[in-house]
Amino acid sequence: MTDKNEWGSNLSFILAMIGSAVGLGNIWRYPYVLYSNGGGAFYIPYIVAILLMGIPFLILEYGVGYNFKSSFAKAVRKINSKWEYLGWFLPVAVFMIMIYYSAILGWDGIYIVLSFFKGWGADPNTYFTTTLLQSSTSMSGLLSFIPLIAVAMLVGWVIIWFISHRDLESGLGKVSKVLVPALFVIMVLIVVFSLTLPGASIGLAELFNPDWSLLGHFEIWMAAFGQIVFSLSLGMSIAFTYASYAKDDADLITNTISIALANSLFENFAALGVFSILGYMSLQSGTAVANLVEQGTGLVFIVYPTVFNVLGQWAYALGPLFFLTVYLAGLTSILSTIEPLSFSIQNKFGLSRSKTMTILIIVGAVISMIYATAYGGSVLGYVDTFINQIALLFGVIVECIVFAWIFNADKLIDFLNSRSRTIKLGKWWMIIVKYILPIFIGIVWIGGMFDVVMQSSFDQLIFTVICAVILLGATLIFTVLPAKNPDWDNAEERV
Ligand code: PFF
Repeated sequence: MTDKNEWGSNLSFILAMIGSAVGLGNIWRYPYVLYSNGGGAFYIPYIVAILLMGIPFLILEYGVGYNFKSSFAKAVRKINSKWEYLGWFLPVAVFMIMIYYSAILGWDGIYIVLSFFKGWGADPNTYFTTTLLQSSTSMSGLLSFIPLIAVAMLVGWVIIWFISHRDLESGLGKVSKVLVPALFVIMVLIVVFSLTLPGASIGLAELFNPDWSLLGHFEIWMAAFGQIVFSLSLGMSIAFTYASYAKDDADLITNTISIALANSLFENFAALGVFSILGYMSLQSGTAVANLVEQGTGLVFIVYPTVFNVLGQWAYALGPLFFLTVYLAGLTSILSTIEPLSFSIQNKFGLSRSKTMTILIIVGAVISMIYATAYGGSVLGYVDTFINQIALLFGVIVECIVFAWIFNADKLIDFLNSRSRTIKLGKWWMIIVKYILPIFIGIVWIGGMFDVVMQSSFDQLIFTVICAVILLGATLIFTVLPAKNPDWDNAEERV
């Protein structure tokens, strides 16, 4: 290892990127999105979204990151020094994701332990919302602290620190090579077992039953594009940062295709597992699958424990495996959310990787304690909506403008093609990233903002404004603080 921020091999790079993409979105979001947007018919907008947006946009983020070999903030400053602010915006937004992801990881850690003895009792709903989270819808809930959640979150932060503060390859690189394959293997075991359950076919028939009439509806196209942005971690400066860590001979186009394929494979596999289990539950309880399906925390922490309660002895094997899968998927994603900000800080302020990670993790852990209060669940929902519907989509648009228009990504085409063993880029790529994507995402973004403003409660609006102030304020601070590293203005380019 010559550089502390370089992948040891192309395999580490690909696996770490798959680890970032394959996360909670693949397990708890995708099956529901597929089911509620036309079932089998959803594959048409889904494939279009991958080909038209997922792959072309990932190539753009990778290509520019690879070209600069430096952090996101440093590269954006090099493209145009007046725009440094935008270079900090995304890394800070992604770090905000890290902080609330740590809460979900903490809950899941608790469930890994509970699953050995079905510790959620006969009523998983009451256990999750009342006993564990002590959910309060009033802001005064911020004053009641829940030590169990705090401890579970701190365990997660210690694991993250243990991996992230090392040099890139000996920490994240090595861990990805073990955990990502392990994640896939465990998922296969779970799905194969689920498929053998009585009633599995009922769930699958419900899931895939195509509703072709929906293809004419704008919403299912929006759902497909939204899912791909989230699932592939697009426009988050993560792909950018990972590619800047790559060795000189990487074939980025082929890497992109492998990552998109692995991500889709995983989420479709997860959908098979989730709906087989729902089919089984439907058969046992006589409740229609439509009344059982859930997404998000409701699926993982309420529906699944309910199923384990009726599953008998098998639940003691399947339960821990399932919660472990969620933990690994979450862990390999959360590890990626600290990289863009950490690398940008290292570049500007000349701090070592290890020191930067330690500071960021302490700051993250302290702020995350807001989620260890009775109002934490509500705050998490508000922050998640703000980041996903407003901040990150804005990031994708900004990246299209800064990279495709101002940086002129067409100059990368020959370079990327010369290393590609699979497809070659042509004019079509520029048309997509310059015109189609910013316009389409712009429409989705305005729609999302409109939703948030129209449908939010008063509390949610307050938290949306607080999040915006924190995000914009922290971004401003990083931008105006004077650089300590003499190298800050020398972003080396490979092309
Ligand atoms: N792509 C991840 C998933 O599908 O769960 C989610 C994610 C990872 C979102 C990393 C944001 C992020 F920064």
